[in-house]
Order: sequence, then structure tokens, then C-alpha cells
Amino acid sequence: MLENLTQQPPDALLALIKLYDADSRADKIDLGVGVYRTDDGATPVFASIKAAERKLVEEQDSKAYLGPEGDMGFVHALMPYIFGSDPTMGGRIEGMQTPGGTGAVRITLALAKHAGVGTVLMGTPSWPNHAQILKDLGMQMKGFTHATADGTADMDSLRNALKSAAKGDAVLLHGCCHNPTGIDYTDAQWDEIAALLAETGVLPILDLAYQGLGLGMDADAYGTRKVLASVPEALIAYSCDKNFGLYRDRVGAAYAMAADPSQVGAIMSNGHALARANWSMPPDHGASAVRLILRDPEMTKLWLDELDDMRARMRQVRDRLAAAGKVGTLDLTPCGTQNGLFSMLALTPEQILKLREDHGVYMAGSGRINIAGLTMGNIDKFIGALAAVTA
Ligand SMILES: Cc1ncc(COP(=O)(O)O)c(C=O)c1O
Repeated sequence: MLENLTQQPPDALLALIKLYDADSRADKIDLGVGVYRTDDGATPVFASIKAAERKLVEEQDSKAYLGPEGDMGFVHALMPYIFGSDPTMGGRIEGMQTPGGTGAVRITLALAKHAGVGTVLMGTPSWPNHAQILKDLGMQMKGFTHATADGTADMDSLRNALKSAAKGDAVLLHGCCHNPTGIDYTDAQWDEIAALLAETGVLPILDLAYQGLGLGMDADAYGTRKVLASVPEALIAYSCDKNFGLYRDRVGAAYAMAADPSQVGAIMSNGHALARANWSMPPDHGASAVRLILRDPEMTKLWLDELDDMRARMRQVRDRLAAAGKVGTLDLTPCGTQNGLFSMLALTPEQILKLREDHGVYMAGSGRINIAGLTMGNIDKFIGALAAVTA
């Protein structure tokens, strides 16, 4: 039977890591994989996480099973950061821990499917795993264009998609720091989106994987909060893997907002059943560390300061790119107003190959660059390489 399984293409970004590792040039630049890097090119464990882990080792007295919902102390401690001053919206929001944001996306989409959603509207390009998960769940994807050529959000395309949606459709939206383009909706655009969602009845599924890496914790939640204040129901997928630097520890949460508090229990029971059938229960360690941080004002401050430093560094890189302006045929100006870890450069496959072979610059085949892969030490070389291949 196993002969029926045909070879699947390798993950393009993981293949890129191998090529990068095999390159012996000392000044090579890795803009591929989406992890934060310091100006020294490192991805260190946060000091706040180290402090929480020390406390965890001392205080944790059992590793007995918790249940499919995971660490509810963690799930609830996050809620004021995501949802604001009324974090349950009068008892209408509840959540559960998931293995990373990926687990959260998986469970929110599966919940939507179980609720009867067949088609999910989604801006393209998007994080590739969105389409893969939809395909694996047997759900239809209806694409609309996320961005215009001038580097801003394509509101016409989103407007048309929402207005022509069928009853029972959902829409998957990036809450902030859009991956791969870095192009987020402005507050005014979110206001319009929230009104459109209320008018059309399309179910919003909000993927918030980079809160705090764009404009700040509150500013990055503007769209999520605005949408939730405007519609009766929504699903939210959340990742702590970037804003706590916990990538491999797999820390995330899925939340549902029901029209009425009386429906919350039934919705979550479906989430728990899905978790049980998929991963039974999520890994504990990283979520416990986040819970300890969020329950301790000093550790919370340390974490928020670390997040501020990351954001400031990425803003510095973005400002330098924007200041370079037109480089050959490429305009780097929009990078300055985009948010988060990524921007996407309009490069041809040939130019991307030339960047790699001639200049040791590694980036995804889509032209997506990891902003945090650039440092004050390598950014001039990068801009020079862009000028050379786009001349
Ligand atoms: C848009 C988006 N959603 C969700 C995720 C999932 O993140 P993780 O599973 O690593 O927490 C990512 C990660 O790259 C992402 O870019």
C-alpha cells in the first residue's frame, strides 16, 4: 500500500536553508526563513522567557495530562492583550491552547467547516500553509488580490469578494504584519472591513501571528478588536511563537466569539473534540512560560521591552530600505510603511537566482524577504546587490 504514496515536493524554504548552509561565502545573507534576528544575526531566547523558565523549573510540581484545552491560565492571560478592556466581550469569547499558530489556524478552519462553511475567501499571496490546510480539510478557497502594485492593500478586490460572497462563506484575514507582503490594512480600512463584514454576514477568521511586531501590541490588535465589535461571531487564531520567540516550543491559541454566551460551551466542546482527534493536547512548556510572564508585572515589562527593541530594530531596517528609494527597476520606498517581519520585492525568478549565485543573498522564490535578516552591517551590500541585478 505504501507504494501508492508519491514523492512530495520539499518545502521550498527548508531547501533554501540547506543551500545557504552549504554556501562558504562569509558575507552571505539569509533573508529566507521567518524568524526574528538581532543585529548580530542571532535568534536568542528572550530574557523574559529565560526568567519564566527558571521559575517554571522551580515551581512546576506535575506534568500530568491537562486536557485538550491545554493551559487555560495561559489562554486567559493572553486575552486582554488581544481583545482589550472587555476581553470576553461579555462572556462571548472563549479559547483553547493549540500547538503554535498553525494548530490554531487548523482548528479554527476545522471549526468553521464543522459549522457548515464550505468556501473561505482569502487574499493572495498569503502564508502558503493557509492554502495547504484548507486543501487538507477539503474546503474551497476563493482568492482575491491582497495588494496593489504600489505596495498598499487592494481594497477593491476585498470589497468585491465580500460583496459577492455566498451565504455561509468565511474570510481569512491577517490581523497584522501580513505574511508575505508586510502590507496591512490601515485603521480606516479596518473600519470599512468591519462594516462590510457586518453587512454581508461573512464569518471572519482572523489570523494574528505577529502581534507586537508591527506598530505595537494595541495598534496591531486594532483590526481584530474593530471586527469583533462589529459582528456577532468570529474565530481567531493566535501565535506566541514570534512575539515571545518560542518558535519550536509551539505556542498558540484558538478563540471563538459566539453571538450569545450560551453558545460558547458547545463551540468549545467541538474545538476540544477536534484537538483530541488531532494532537490530543498541546505541548505545555512554552505556554506555561508565557503564563508566568503575563501573571508577573516585572516579567511582563521585561517582555514588552524586548518586543519594543525588536520592533525598533525592524523599523530601522525598513527606514534604511525606504531611504534607498528607487534601486534599478525596484522601488524600496513602500518597505518603510509596511509592517512586521516581511516585505515582498517585485523581482523575477532570474533576478532572485542571480542574487543567490552572484551575491550570496538568499530569499524565497516569491521575492519575500525577512526584514530581520538585514543588519546595519549587511544592508548596504544587500541594496548594492539589488541595484546590480535590477540594473
Ligand atoms: C500568517 C501566519 N499564520 C500563522 C503562522 C503559524 O505560526 P506558528 O505555527 O509557528 O506559531 C505563521 C507562521 O509563519 C504565519 O505567518
